[in-house]
Amino acid sequence: MAGRRTNLALLVLLAAAILTGALAYAIGSGWGRVAVIAHGVVGLGLLVLAPWKSAIARRGLRRRRPGSWASVALTVLAGLAVLFGILHGTGLVVDLGPVTAMQVHVGAALLSLPFAVGHVVARRVRPRRTDLSRRALLRAGAVVGGAGLAYAGVEGVVRVTGLPGSDRRFTGSYERGSGRPEEMPVTQWLNDAVPEVDAASWRLEVASGSEVVRRWSYEELAGFDDRVRATLDCTGGWYADQVWEGAWLSRLLPPTGQGRSIRVVSVTGYPRRFPIGDASRLLVATRVGGRPLDAGHGFPARVVAPGRRGFWWVKWIARVEASPVPWWLQWPFPVT
Ligand code: HEM
Ligand code: HEM
Repeated sequence: MAGRRTNLALLVLLAAAILTGALAYAIGSGWGRVAVIAHGVVGLGLLVLAPWKSAIARRGLRRRRPGSWASVALTVLAGLAVLFGILHGTGLVVDLGPVTAMQVHVGAALLSLPFAVGHVVARRVRPRRTDLSRRALLRAGAVVGGAGLAYAGVEGVVRVTGLPGSDRRFTGSYERGSGRPEEMPVTQWLNDAVPEVDAASWRLEVASGSEVVRRWSYEELAGFDDRVRATLDCTGGWYADQVWEGAWLSRLLPPTGQGRSIRVVSVTGYPRRFPIGDASRLLVATRVGGRPLDAGHGFPARVVAPGRRGFWWVKWIARVEASPVPWWLQWPFPVT
């Protein structure tokens, strides 16, 4: 395959890997499976092109132009992303001490992005009309087919050999501590840290816009016994199925509550905005598995958002606010 087209194919695959990876994280319901499989295929597609790309890279490195080090950094980071994706997907390595293989995977992928952009700008490749010729499209089809075969091959080996990867959820996550909440890992989004909250002085503020209309104490909240069985599926790559108890959010909001969204903010300032219609499906939990939450899992109270990935399950909540802003007016993933 011509070098130029190999590079263009890599560009499409890289963009598709980021897009499908983000979708795999964003979708917590069954549809996520489609994104996760597409992501695996696209990610392995990079490996399918590796023999052609390594010929281009060797030729390029011989020329010793400025920016070669950045191309090498891109190679290392993209290589780590693919390697840790496979280690996670097969289950060969899932936990690495304080981090998970999934966290290394996504970290390497995101770090590779600025290098990828720099690389593409510095080593510009102009698409031509003939890139959409029948022949070129047949070749692109062959690459996708090869990637699909690679994916089916990896999955087949995982199933036949009974590697841990055969037990993962449709999101790719591994079971950790279902029905045994104390065994669930403690993970925070990016730089968030576990706070120690004094239940006696803590209050959950319920606001309509900027006006606080109610302050719930811990005792009051702990008096509710609404319950739901729901799966906490962390983007760190693990999940746990638990029975959560507390109060449906709709019961805590004022009856006259208006607005288009509900913004939930933690004691640490971590925010997430939900559609207002979700209030009757979101639980403000004070207990899991019949026992009070511990600090790492959100004490005094956390959101339980069935069907949504872990970063929606705001821990240590401090404020719930009905707001006129639509729920989608926020970063798809929290930025701090
Ligand atoms: C994971 C993706 C990629 C990796 C790991 C990678 C790696 C490399 C390396 C190590 C080199 C040789 C050093 C250099 O010339 O800087 C190179 C060269 C090059 N790359 Fe990439 N690259 C990737 C994707 C792309 C993409 C998406 C494009 C363009 C759309 C591209 C276009 C080029 C070009 C034009 C050269 C110069 C080839 C020459 O001088 O003969 N690369 N790449
Ligand atoms: C450079 C970009 C990326 C590449 C090349 C890449 C590649 C891969 C590969 C090769 C796998 C293993 C597939 C398998 O063996 O089944 C994988 C798995 C995975 N990746 Fe990525 N990935 C990238 C970015 C991302 C991003 C940005 C996210 C999330 C935001 C993400 C989320 C995932 C998830 C959840 C899995 C597990 C899928 C499973 O267990 O089947 N990836 N990735």
